Amino acid sequence: MDLPPGPRAPAAWQTVAWIMRPAAFLRRVHDRFGDPVTIRTYWMDEPMVLFSHPDAVREVFRLPPAIAPAGQSWEFLRPFAGPHSILVLDGEEHLRERRLIQTPFHGERMRAFTPTVAELARRELSSWNGRVVALERMKHLTLETILRVVFGARGEREAAQLRDAVHGTLDAVRSMPRMLAMALVQRDLGPHSPWGRFRLAVERFDALLLDVVARRRAEPGGDSMLALLLEQRDENGNPPTDRHLRDQLVALLAAGHDTSAAALAWAFERLARHPRVLARLREGDPAYLDAVVKEVLRVRPALTVAPRRLLEPARIAGRTLPAGVHVAACLWLALRREDLWPQAAAFRPDRWLDDPPPDPAPWIPFGGGVRRCAGAPFAEMEMREVLRAAADLTIRPVRPEPESARRSALVVTPHRGGEVLVG
Ligand code: HEM
Repeated sequence: MDLPPGPRAPAAWQTVAWIMRPAAFLRRVHDRFGDPVTIRTYWMDEPMVLFSHPDAVREVFRLPPAIAPAGQSWEFLRPFAGPHSILVLDGEEHLRERRLIQTPFHGERMRAFTPTVAELARRELSSWNGRVVALERMKHLTLETILRVVFGARGEREAAQLRDAVHGTLDAVRSMPRMLAMALVQRDLGPHSPWGRFRLAVERFDALLLDVVARRRAEPGGDSMLALLLEQRDENGNPPTDRHLRDQLVALLAAGHDTSAAALAWAFERLARHPRVLARLREGDPAYLDAVVKEVLRVRPALTVAPRRLLEPARIAGRTLPAGVHVAACLWLALRREDLWPQAAAFRPDRWLDDPPPDPAPWIPFGGGVRRCAGAPFAEMEMREVLRAAADLTIRPVRPEPESARRSALVVTPHRGGEVLVG
């Protein structure tokens, strides 16, 4: 079975391009080889076929999990994510876990978190003055939001302990090559070896998380996602175990921290170069605010691909692909198709207010199908609240030229971190 065409350059070269210049790399391979295109990188043991046509993307999202599991692509995260994690499960187990973990993201419950998120955003932005690297500050803010809203951390002491422990573990997880190498070896060569140090950091983090869980069990209530997760009951009416709650909290942290920080860093990078958009945001129209959030996520999606590994041959876009290869909906390319988004490369929030508005189906920064981002309503709300708070600032770019995209672990960020001048 032939694979679709793709660059013949060695995997090492494609890997470097994928990390250093992901946007340019994807555009180049798409211009040269069309859709679909096959690429080879060091992360993947086998080639990855990228699709961006909306019909093909729909087919990828609809592939049965028994044939195209997504959990296997995150397998390297298992030592941190844990065995109950939604990220590594597939099929029935995944759907069961998804029903549980989505409880806090429904309607009224989600809206109850808005005032806390808005207050954290206002507090963060009130300290901005002079040169600010938005990505650094947004990593801080999105972590603070997760600690307070998801984990329900109470008081500065509890938050500070968790913050330190998160840094200790996430720094290792963010280094993909290190994580992959450690996951392969997994030999504890003592507390000073990389794997030994990582295990110790995870144990320390787990001990703190289990403490928080125990305290919340002892004093129920409060308005955190953890409080809502404690109320879960499985189909036999059993409450979740501590280890299960631990894995749920870690899944929300791993999936919701760097992604939101990257999306917000792009928002500042784009707004600094579009003063008229910032001025209109200041007028306070909620529909326009929503349009800006949608347009940031379209023009600079934080995740570029949603990959699946084929366990059996599968037919996508009229072509049969062999077992073993990875197939992916390429979110980046799909969100930049001229046939769907006229002037696709332009940052034009107004397009969302056109009559008729763009078809929402091909807008896929949160993926699609049964693995669509479980935290999307929260992520959009967080972006709205940060941008609402940012609208009053005067923001200029440090350098006039747009920042290019760079890969940082799993997400794509502005290469200078969204460097802006405030005031
Ligand atoms: C702008 C920020 C975000 C973006 C762009 C984003 C994007 C995505 C995408 C594309 C996927 C699907 C991956 C796939 O199909 O393989 C995903 C999955 C997921 N996201 Fe998000 N995400 C964001 C924020 C969040 C937040 C804030 C949370 C939680 C607090 C979250 C929780 C999750 C979870 C739990 C999954 C796994 C869903 C499953 O496997 O069923 N995400 N996200």
